[in-house]
Amino acid sequence: MSAFKAPPLEVSSILHGGIHHPTLRSWQSNGRNLTKSMFIYPVFISDDPDCEEVISSLPGQKRWGLNKLEGFLGPLVKKGLKSVILFGVPMKMEKDARGSAADDPSTPVIQALHLLSKLFPQLMLTVDVCLCEYTSHGHCGILSSLPNPGHSNQPTIEAEPSAQRIAEVAVAYAKAGAHCVAPSDMMDGRIKAIKLGLMHAGLANRCALMSYSAKFASGLYGPFRDAAGSAPSFGNRKCYQLPPNARSLARRAILRDSSEGADILMVKPALPYLDIISDCAQYAPDHPTACYQVSGEYAMVVAGAEKGIYDLKEMAFETTESLVRAGASIILSYFTPQFLDWLDEEK
Ligand code: PBG
Ligand code: ZN
Repeated sequence: MSAFKAPPLEVSSILHGGIHHPTLRSWQSNGRNLTKSMFIYPVFISDDPDCEEVISSLPGQKRWGLNKLEGFLGPLVKKGLKSVILFGVPMKMEKDARGSAADDPSTPVIQALHLLSKLFPQLMLTVDVCLCEYTSHGHCGILSSLPNPGHSNQPTIEAEPSAQRIAEVAVAYAKAGAHCVAPSDMMDGRIKAIKLGLMHAGLANRCALMSYSAKFASGLYGPFRDAAGSAPSFGNRKCYQLPPNARSLARRAILRDSSEGADILMVKPALPYLDIISDCAQYAPDHPTACYQVSGEYAMVVAGAEKGIYDLKEMAFETTESLVRAGASIILSYFTPQFLDWLDEEK
């Protein structure tokens, strides 16, 4: 066999010329660059005011009591933190079937809203709206006593009372000073119910509505449910969160929520659902697309780095930049504090 001689390169073969310098590489991003203001930092608020408790399944994250918030968030705000999303962790409060503790005036997120509005008037305050942290059954809506026809160990959701209850809770948070409410419950019709509730309360023009719109029934929420004490006491959430195979249904959810009055649409989890992020940006191009790199994704990235599989910072950047490339302009991330440092460093 004669020696193979590669043909001369064509002009169009040469790509390396555009990526040999860090600045050149940054220009290959189609204008979609990661910035500090894209990040929303999830913060767990305990009803024990002096709480500062490590969450073992969520490395580096803690549950915080009201008295610790200034010391914890102050330095981050100085470094450029623009936004947080608050999750209530009622450790001592009574749980019942309708999640009464969710909008009790003493509930930790309402107390935190009052405090943070005073401490950091520039910080944008989003609150997660859901019932699962506050219900005795640990589900995200109001349950019917009827059995679920698809599976006897599954809950049956009461659609209208659920949407109504979620809207009540959202309006209570808006009244307490939330700049944005973010329902994660996945109940049918809750976006419209919340929007109408906000309008009725005269708050629709000063509280944004960010819908967890394409939220999938994922195995990646485990550390969060530990952190927030919100695991269902029976069954699972598959009859209200989207099946992981459901691309078209996700598109319907996105279109529905944009027509029901959402200001921002979210996809969750993030990395296994890049196609959905891209669909969201494409099918709802007039709404900002958010995505949530959830607790299990974060824990996975950290665990791989601890095993020596890759470098933590490199992988945090790679996963997060993928979300931006797919179409996200808002990112909920447990890596937010690190990015406030990393984005100041030379890459
Ligand atoms: C509650 C809620 C969950 C998350 C955000 N809000 C968990 C769930 O649906 O069980 C997940 C966030 C994360 O895993 O980081 N409805
Ligand atoms: Zn929930």
